[in-house]
Amino acid sequence: MNKKLVIISAVCLALFGCATPQSEMDKFVDDLMSKMTVEEKIGQLNLPVAGDIVTGQAKSSNVSERIRKGEVGGLFNLKGADKIRDVQRIAVEESRLGIPILFGMDVIHGYETIFPIPLGLSCSWNMEAVEKSARIAAEEASADGICWTFSPMVDVSRDARWGRVSEGSGEDTYLGCRIAEAMVRGYQGPDKETQLTSNDQILACVKHFALYGAPEAGRDYSTVDMSRIRMYNEYFPPYKAAIDAGAGSVMASFNEIDGVPATGNHWLLTDVLRDQWNFDGFVVTDYTGIFEMIAHGVGDFESVSVQALKAGVDMDMVSEGFIVNVKNALDKGMLSMKDIDLACRRILEAKYRLGLFEDPYKFCRAEEAAKEVYCQEHRDIAREIASESFVLLKNEGVLPLKKKGTIGLIGPLADTRSNMPGTWSVAARLDVPKTLREGLADAVKGKAEVLYAKGSNLVSDFDLEMRSTMFGRELGRDNRTDAQLLNEALAVARRSDVIVAALGEASEMSGESSCRTEISIPDVQQKLLKALVATGKPVVLVLFNGRPITLNWEAENVPAILDVWFGGSETADAVADVLFGDVNPSGKLTMTFPKNVGQIPLYYAAKNTGRPLLEGRWFEKFRSNYLDVDNDPLYPFGYGLSYTTFEYSPVTLSAAEVAKGGSVKAEVTVTNTGKVAGKEVVQMYLQDVVGTTTRPVRELKGFEKIALEPGESKTVSFEITEELMSHYNSDLEFVAEPGEFKVFIGTDSRAKNEASFILK
Ligand code: BGC
Repeated sequence: MNKKLVIISAVCLALFGCATPQSEMDKFVDDLMSKMTVEEKIGQLNLPVAGDIVTGQAKSSNVSERIRKGEVGGLFNLKGADKIRDVQRIAVEESRLGIPILFGMDVIHGYETIFPIPLGLSCSWNMEAVEKSARIAAEEASADGICWTFSPMVDVSRDARWGRVSEGSGEDTYLGCRIAEAMVRGYQGPDKETQLTSNDQILACVKHFALYGAPEAGRDYSTVDMSRIRMYNEYFPPYKAAIDAGAGSVMASFNEIDGVPATGNHWLLTDVLRDQWNFDGFVVTDYTGIFEMIAHGVGDFESVSVQALKAGVDMDMVSEGFIVNVKNALDKGMLSMKDIDLACRRILEAKYRLGLFEDPYKFCRAEEAAKEVYCQEHRDIAREIASESFVLLKNEGVLPLKKKGTIGLIGPLADTRSNMPGTWSVAARLDVPKTLREGLADAVKGKAEVLYAKGSNLVSDFDLEMRSTMFGRELGRDNRTDAQLLNEALAVARRSDVIVAALGEASEMSGESSCRTEISIPDVQQKLLKALVATGKPVVLVLFNGRPITLNWEAENVPAILDVWFGGSETADAVADVLFGDVNPSGKLTMTFPKNVGQIPLYYAAKNTGRPLLEGRWFEKFRSNYLDVDNDPLYPFGYGLSYTTFEYSPVTLSAAEVAKGGSVKAEVTVTNTGKVAGKEVVQMYLQDVVGTTTRPVRELKGFEKIALEPGESKTVSFEITEELMSHYNSDLEFVAEPGEFKVFIGTDSRAKNEASFILK
């Protein structure tokens, strides 16, 4: 950037507290583009992969040489401020125009200080915590060279077989929107006007646009087919919320939509994203997304590359489709210079907004990184947030544990470091997190004894264990027989006053390309758990999982179950905090736990159908139900226990009738009726009783997390605005239709505490 521009932006920032006006950016980009060759413009659209982090099958080659030639707009998966500085130097000093490049990474739930997997984080229902986790991730990543994260992932999903439910915020649209906004604020900055103006604010990338969370059969990358009315009402809103919050980039998903791969879908990437939602950032494909359109069966490499560019893709991740094909396609008249210019402009604008033209090394602050990355302050916050993400599923007087006597810690997840952070923690140091064994021992030091036995392998099948523990997350297969492992565990159990069973999934049993058709605790672990329960000692199941798990036997027979997901780098201490009652659990499920896989998709905001099963019933002929299991979940959306109890007053409404444009205030008073302080997530659901199209039986439309001392009461109110009463009708108009609305407020999605009003 020339000196004059630097002065103008500095003055503007000082005077108005805002980034340089649009026109300055336009002038700058116009000027730069006037000097660029077609090849250099196409080079800006190219995003190869580099470094040691593996997030896909294909690799890029000759990256430095191509940077010199101006064939690279961004790079991802390179880690370390010094490494990144060296590569940036090639771009700035050795390419003809010296255009800096974007450095991206999947900073999904933390950089090196790792927070709970997103599904776990969402169970905190604490938007400040969510934002804070993204803020810390941005602070660490930005000091270490990264200016662009491929997060937030906001795909609504209702299929627990899909491994990537671990990366999202669960099944709910409304909660998904609030989390999407909080994440964008955390990465880019809280105030839309000043986002990306400081060197610790990084560009967010909302993904995977769109509908990626609804693959057929819960199999990753599989076909998606969905009505438009469902897209608009249930699946689109979180992407839009992220964009409205300022997200500067969008990632196209691998799946098809209406039969056209998202990567080449003009309706999606231009009509919806640009024209309806006014998105003004840039669109990147997912890993080899353009190339994969060939396998989708929609054309050869040249035609799919053209299709993607014309549909609205600006940057090509790893495929090389633009580099290889776009110039020829231009010469043949298959696309216009305007198509290339538009995409190039959007990439340069992102670099400008990030301030890379002013200082290309803005994000390479090795000294700061050495001090801040994984610092104690960040870790303390991560520990606190982790403990808030855990969900207490059952507790028959066993928890909290006392710090005395002998605690038998048993299970294949009890003594692992690398499995603590959770999937998609690509920058994590896998050898540093405490094991649960160490965490419990530290917590009870000098007061109680912790004995340990592995008890079983992760699964009996060796090959399945290898597939489930990739990327350095091995659990160390024990070659003793199942019987030997079990006997050792039973010996420990007999010497213990209480048993903590650390069981469930390995962290790579969820995440990308990690889908399951059985979602129970694996075979050998179940046998172990049954044997432990049979000893008659109190057993606490500490469940590690990246998805809802089927837990019927466990729910019936194990006295206490604490779901800890994968809580991040500080999991071990956080689990100890909750087990011993230093922290009162307050997480609530954001995905329904089904009773079996056959019930999937099972979610609370379902439609009633014309033949609903009446509440509390099981089988009735000619009703919508199963012969072999009832329709209820094992644990519903919004569910989670505490070490205290809460009581709700009846719901009161400010009016029984409301005119269009008006709003209704709904109120409850919540009292902590137990003996310890606790936090409660007060949830408000709405039912639009009659519509021109069918409406869900209820939908979350508000929530508030409150802290209450024993005996304390708080009144919580929700303003039900016309927007909250609205939905997309069959013409895809966003309308509030007159008629009755029911309001339910309570502790989970089954809340019966209700009132109703009429919209005139
Ligand atoms: C995933 C994305 C990720 C990208 C880059 C893809 O395989 O679907 O979520 O951002 O790889 O690592």
